[in-house]
Amino acid sequence: MAIRKIRENGDEILRKKAKLVEKIDEKICQLLDDMSETMYKYDGVGLAAPQIGILKRIVVIDVGDGIIELINPEIIEQSGKITYKEGCLSVPNVYGNVIRPEKVKVRALNRLGEEVSYEAKENFAQAICHELDHLEGVLFIDKATNLERIEEE
Ligand code: CO
Repeated sequence: MAIRKIRENGDEILRKKAKLVEKIDEKICQLLDDMSETMYKYDGVGLAAPQIGILKRIVVIDVGDGIIELINPEIIEQSGKITYKEGCLSVPNVYGNVIRPEKVKVRALNRLGEEVSYEAKENFAQAICHELDHLEGVLFIDKATNLERIEEE
């Protein structure tokens, strides 16, 4: 496993649409391992492959219940609206309010190539929406109101 470099806002790769994973092989599994390791290293709750410079539709999320790996994820249902204060490892020290669905259902493949789905709510739903936006080249700052900069001490 290896820590990968996180791309930051201004890097054009963050603005590109990620491509579907066509074959889940050892390289993809290695990438998933590196993504988790990188996410934990920087205390994130989610990471999308474009954030480490890989334009593939892969995200990892851990909102406190263990690692979730999503390959080619798709939101198939959503409901409600809720506002969250968000940040992003690719936009350090910046936070802002984003309106997200309160609940989502996401369908994806796991590393075994099996179809999985999760019914997520609240911060898990938020993390899914935030990470899936990265796959479209969208950052939370595009959607946020009252962005503020909070410098680390
Ligand atoms: Co992000």
